[in-house]
Order: sequence, then C-alpha cells, then structure tokens
Amino acid sequence: LTVQVNKPGAPIAKTMYGLFFEDINFAADGGLYPELVKNKSFELDEHLLGWRGIRGAAALSTYTVSSQQPISNANNHFLRMTAATASPDAGFINEGFRGMGIKQGADYTFSVYLRRGPGSVSGLNVTLEEEGQRGAGPEAAGSGNVLAQTRITGLTGEWKKYSVVLKSTGTAPRARLKLTMEGAGTLDVDVVSLFPKDTWNKRENGLRTDLVQLLKDMNPGFLRFPGGCIVEGRNLTERYQWKETIGDVASRVPLVNRWNMEFKHRSTPDYYQSFGLGFYEYFQLSEDIGAEPVPILNVGMACQFNSAELAPVAGSTAGGPNAPAASRGHNHADDDPTLETFIQDALDLIEFANGPASSTWGAKRVAMGHPTPFNLKYIGIGNEQWGPQYLERYEPFMKAVKAKYPTMNIVSSAGPSPDGELFDAASKRLRELKAEVIDEHYYAKPEWFRQNVGRYDNYPTTGTKIFAGEYAAQSVAIGSPDNKNSWDCAISEAAFMTGLERNADKVIMASYAPLFAHVDAWQWTPDMIWFDNLRSYGTPNYYVQKMYSTNPGTTMLPMQRADNAKNGQDNLFSSAVADDKTGEIIVKLVNYSPEARPVTINLQGAKKLGKAGKATVLASNDLNAVNTLDQPLNVAPKDASFKVSSANVTYTLAPHSFTVLRIPGK
Ligand code: AHR
Repeated sequence: LTVQVNKPGAPIAKTMYGLFFEDINFAADGGLYPELVKNKSFELDEHLLGWRGIRGAAALSTYTVSSQQPISNANNHFLRMTAATASPDAGFINEGFRGMGIKQGADYTFSVYLRRGPGSVSGLNVTLEEEGQRGAGPEAAGSGNVLAQTRITGLTGEWKKYSVVLKSTGTAPRARLKLTMEGAGTLDVDVVSLFPKDTWNKRENGLRTDLVQLLKDMNPGFLRFPGGCIVEGRNLTERYQWKETIGDVASRVPLVNRWNMEFKHRSTPDYYQSFGLGFYEYFQLSEDIGAEPVPILNVGMACQFNSAELAPVAGSTAGGPNAPAASRGHNHADDDPTLETFIQDALDLIEFANGPASSTWGAKRVAMGHPTPFNLKYIGIGNEQWGPQYLERYEPFMKAVKAKYPTMNIVSSAGPSPDGELFDAASKRLRELKAEVIDEHYYAKPEWFRQNVGRYDNYPTTGTKIFAGEYAAQSVAIGSPDNKNSWDCAISEAAFMTGLERNADKVIMASYAPLFAHVDAWQWTPDMIWFDNLRSYGTPNYYVQKMYSTNPGTTMLPMQRADNAKNGQDNLFSSAVADDKTGEIIVKLVNYSPEARPVTINLQGAKKLGKAGKATVLASNDLNAVNTLDQPLNVAPKDASFKVSSANVTYTLAPHSFTVLRIPGK
C-alpha cells in the first residue's frame, strides 16, 4: 500500500462524521430525555395513558380527566380524584417508560400542580416503589419495596406548584410512582414530574448523562435532528412543528409519535412525543457535544410511504385529494398549512437560532437562557422525499431561505433508495439547482456496503456535496425485527466508510441511523446505542463510527495498492488522511477475511517520522458477535503501540478487523 503523504488532497470537512437523532425506539421520552413520568399532563387523546387507578381505582368514588379551569389553555386537562372516604388506596400509579430507572442514593425532583376541591383532603402522599413481582398486576398497591416517600401538604383551592426532592434508598430498573390522597374529598392533579437531579451539565430540564457521554465520546461533527420520518409525520396534522417544542416545558403539547405502533415487547401502542426535549434542547445538546446543529424541516409533505399529504403550493393544483385532512389532532392548532407556512417556519427557526435579542424569535431563545446565537449553518429541507412533488416544494423553499440567509447551507433530500430512477432524476435536478448537499440514505445488506465502497469514486468533485445521512447494514432485511448489530454489519460499514473518506472532497457528512433504542421499546433494528432504564452500551457499529469520528484527520491523502487493485479487492479496504493539527498520518484498514494479513504501508515523501505509532483495533473472529447490556465490550476497540522504523511501515492486520493506525509524521 502506498500513501502519498507528499501529495495532500482536499481538506476534510469538520462535519464529516456526525450523528443522526430521531425520536424512534424511545430515543427521546424514555431515553435521552429522563423525565420518568409518562404522560405527565394528561393531554393525550388517551388522557390516562401510563396511569392506573390503584386496585382499579376502587377506593375512589369518581375520577375523571377534567378541563374545568385548567392551569393554562395549552395545558387544559388534568386528573380530578374524589374519594368519599379516606383510604390508603385512593390514588393513581404512573408506570413510567417500561418502568422507571431509579438509582440508590440519587436525588429526584418530584413536582406537581395541585388544587384542592370540596372535602377535607389534607395532602398528597408520594411513593416511589419497585414494581414488584411481574404478573402481580400493575394495579396492585404496595407490592414492591418503597424506595422513597414524601407528603405534600399546604393544599389550597387554587392551582399551585409543589416541588420536593426524593432520595432513593435502593436501585430499581423498574420502579413506579404512586400518588394517594390523604383524607376524603376532591383533589385536582396536573403536570406530575419526577426528574433526576443528575442530568448532563446538571440542568433542570437536562438529559440522561450516560447517553450524552456516549455521544460526546464520539467527537461528532454534527447532530442532525429531530429525524427521520417524524419530521414528516404520517399526515400533515402530525408533522413535527418545532415552534410547539420551545418555551415553558409544562406548556408543550404532546403529540402522538409517528412510530407509535405495536412494539415487539408490547402489543398496545403507547408512544408519543412530550417535546420536553425540544428544539432549544437539541441546539443546546449540539453545543454541549461540540457538534454543528443540523435541523431537518418538513418541506410541506407528509411521509410518502403513508398518507403523502401535500401542502398546497401557490398557483399549483398539486394539493388535490392529498391536501391535509380538515380535522386536527387533539389540542393542535387547526391549521391548513400551505407551503408558505413551512417556509415561514424555516425562516423563523433560523431567527430563533441566530437572531439578536431584538428579533421576535431570537428573543425567545434569549428568554430561554441562551443570549448568544447557536450559530446555525445548515438546515435540511425535507426528509427522505422524492419526485416532482418534492422538487416543486423544495425549489421555492430553498430560494426563500437563500434570499434571506444567503450563507445558509441547505441539505436537500433524495428519497429512500440510492439506486432508483426517481432518485437519479431528483439528484440531477438538485445538482442543477446548485443544492449544497444531498442527503442520501442506504439501508442494505452488509455485502452491499462492501461492494459499494467505490460509490463516490466518479462523483463530481465540484458542485453539490453528499451527506450520507442515514445508513446501516441490515443483517436480515430492512425493517426486519431480527436484524442484529453484528460484527459483520459493523465491519462492512467500516469498509464502506473507507470509500467515504477517500472521497471526502465530495462527501462532507455521514451518520449511522437510527442512533438509539430502548431494549424494551423499539420498532426498528439495528440501532447504534442500546439502553434500558439504567444502563447503556455501544454496539460494534458504534465503535466503528467512533473510530472514524475520533480520527477524522484534516486533509485527504491519496492511497493506492502496489498491484493497482481497487479498494476492497481481496477484502482489503483502506483510506488515509493527515492530521495537520497533531502532525500525524492516519491510516484506516479493514481486513474482511478470516486470516491475519501482513501489510506494508509506504509513506511516500513522509518527513519527521516518529519511532512509534498507535494502533486501535476492533476485531472479532465471529462475524455474528454482538454487544449486549451484560457484555457491552464483547466487540470493542483495543489500543496498542507499534514500531515505526522507516517510511515502509509493516503491520499485521488481525482476521476480520478494522484498524486505525496513527503515525507521527508529515
Ligand atoms: O432511521 C429510520 C427511518 O429510516 C427514518 O425515520 C427514515 O428517514 C428512514 O426511512
């Protein structure tokens, strides 16, 4: 192998390796966003989702979800409990998100809005307890160990917020919260929250620390959010509307999640977005982990695999029978969005992120606690959309954004399949329109990734760049619940990525998808990071991504094989970059064969070579190997140093391995 150190190529974009976040598989509520109470405000169509009356609410004479004199117009439903006689069972249990993960010695802020009605209710008893025996029935009272307990008193006839910190005496992966009335009478309850004190950067509405740490450890170049198909929604009513996700957390109106469907482990769909993790928090997260924020916005189309509803374009009849349905989801504005609505949302978002305090939307960011701009440089218009309907909307959208914000980089969409005719036509037109970046998605078998390593070799170096915005090797088939995050998938992605790196003058962003999955609540496999209520782990795919994103380099270096064989021939894949900041040459090598493989790397024209390099090796003899919660490091990188005695570096690649060599030299 030859690396032409003396013929450096184009710079590598700082955004090269990043993250794709979508609220799928309980990635937000029940995952990264650590609120433990499910449906805290009773605002869903199914108002009592996640709540159960103790012993079937037998101790209550009535309970109802009321909207009489609510806390606010945005939050206009609450739970009203009435007990004719006092009883320790007069109350409700919240089940959490497949239970609540509670840690011994940790502090949790419990808060609630209460209003006393007729009768003599003197307080609210709050108990955090283990779920108890499975099969005992979630309604059973007191079946588990008590982890923490408190009493809230001083109730009044007006809505008032109460807040208290609970310290847990034990650890439980599946706890639940029990609220019972003290005395007889009526009590109104709303915005019930149990939030860990230990959040990323100790923020009040902060994120789950272990999951953010896994992201930060990757040194990601960007964070794409909030999806994925949830940007589009199954229909336009259920589209993602960023403006409904900012401001006071208690007033954010929840929405059914586009991925609300039967789970492998549960037959009743129960997935919604609380928006506690909203656009402000996404920007903040991007800043925390050092990633460029890349919000993806709805182009005026619902998911083309579902309803394919279209927002009307001025002067066009394209809305037709696919125009948005007249009836809106619960509590969501009964709007009839036109393309203008979507364009305005995008312009307002840019103002929210970057505008001064004197601007309407900039002022909202400042009011939320971020006086400095978020320095937004990229926005995506549409997710995974294609065909004339997309282009008809994309073009005026893009022009309006450019007219107001000429330096904004626009990420355009190219549909789900990288090889179809529609895809080619859309890409051609987007290039003609001088789109900055096209977002390509590939979910395919592992062999596709190895066979397509040269995908961008002949792509033009000028004009539109590529964002490999969603990709993952599928061990069984796309959409199969049996896909595994196997080493075979991960090593095949590593092989493919040598092709991205060799074409870093054309590909400027890449992200694996989806990012997160809860082990008890997922709809999609494979996923990069898995977690339960207390633990989390990176898959072999995570480590592949991390090895690229923590070794991105700054400048491309040409790399060839002495026998002129193509990259990937004989199952050997390679790429090289220089890190001008550290003065190192970084070589990435994938050996997709069951035998060890000695290689000699000729560092042509290299100067100032050090005496030792660092090798990071990810390997397994078993292509089916996976990581799990109990064996999180089954396939994990190992570091070692190796000798560098001349510009001809020799190294033996392990069987079925991905190796990153860092060699001091320029
Ligand atoms: O990553 C899961 C889904 O795959 C995304 O929501 C969508 O963009 C793609 O089809």
